[in-house]
Amino acid sequence: MSLFIQWVQQAFPPAPTWHPADMPDLSGKVVLVTGGNAGIGREIVKELLRKNARVYLAARSPVKAREAIELLKAETGKTAEFLQLDLSDLDAVRVAAQELKRRESHIDVLYLNAGLMLPPIGELTAQSYDLTFGTNVIGHFLFLQLLYPLLDSVSHRPDSSDPARVVWVSGFANYLVPGGKLSYSTFTDGPARRNVKRGMFAMYAQSKLAQITLSAYLAKRAAEAGEDVVSFAVDPGNIQSEIFRGDKAWYLRLWERFIMYPTAYGAITPLYAGTVSEALEHNGKYLRPWARRGDPNPAALDCREQEKLWAWLEAQVKAYLTV
Ligand SMILES: NC(=O)c1ccc[n+]([C@@H]2O[C@H](COP(=O)([O-])OP(=O)(O)OC[C@H]3O[C@@H](n4cnc5c(N)ncnc54)[C@H](OP(=O)(O)O)[C@@H]3O)[C@@H](O)[C@H]2O)c1
Repeated sequence: MSLFIQWVQQAFPPAPTWHPADMPDLSGKVVLVTGGNAGIGREIVKELLRKNARVYLAARSPVKAREAIELLKAETGKTAEFLQLDLSDLDAVRVAAQELKRRESHIDVLYLNAGLMLPPIGELTAQSYDLTFGTNVIGHFLFLQLLYPLLDSVSHRPDSSDPARVVWVSGFANYLVPGGKLSYSTFTDGPARRNVKRGMFAMYAQSKLAQITLSAYLAKRAAEAGEDVVSFAVDPGNIQSEIFRGDKAWYLRLWERFIMYPTAYGAITPLYAGTVSEALEHNGKYLRPWARRGDPNPAALDCREQEKLWAWLEAQVKAYLTV
């Protein structure tokens, strides 16, 4: 299928047939949402609270988190838990995981949602990775590694027959990676990153491709190891949020005005993947708006690409794995 047809289908999907109100009651479930203070993440937190889940709103700014929690309380009558998490600093990710392990013995659903798109080219993570790739992928990968024992313990609880779920909030940009494949030399600063075709958007697109690649591989690894953990990559749709804050070029303003859906729509596909029994048949797969199966960039399904990325990330986070 041509990229243009794929884009038309993604940008103008049929009306949703599933709505967050259709979610089952989530009493007793522990769910964590990264970037839960804003945009799509905040909508996910809101709907989960409405269904009685115990929800961790993970955010880097305590001030923004507190404001979001207050607003969510006014909207739902429920209080989300705050976890401070800065994904652009691997030391801070480790501290956040330690704190969560102190407070919880298991997690039922982990939403890897936080992300940024077009920061200035000079910005890098605390460990000198490209800020977008480092935050969206490397920080989340470490967080997942550190919390994995809490996910894997879910099915051992007497009151849970459901597997634990990981939901990676990816996006259509996965198809727009220059050359179609990940370019490892751009993940740290240097000439390859500085001269990459499509500039900082290329880093965002690579991060979205990497998330789908990791999701597919995680599902496979967990199944092979007999672990009761499933994984989904989702495209939330073209959604009004703060994602373009780094760049307000005229074409992005036009895009926001005519193509973007209200923020609440962005929660539909992630919530479907994270909470609904029927979604389990899509373990390891890619869901596009609104809660429909899609075909990602084929590079995400290439076994060698999956193994290579996983191994590369393991090497990057190895020093931070001891909690
Ligand atoms: N909006 C869309 O059209 C669209 C389309 C496809 C995919 N997505 C994906 O959806 C996800 C959510 O994006 P959104 O549209 O809701 O954007 P958003 O409104 O900008 O929200 C992004 C969230 O990520 C957080 N974040 C950024 N850097 C972080 C860091 N270093 N540590 C921890 N949290 C950090 C932000 O925190 P602060 O508030 O502190 O900055 C914010 O909570 C992203 O992964 C994005 O790629 C969005």
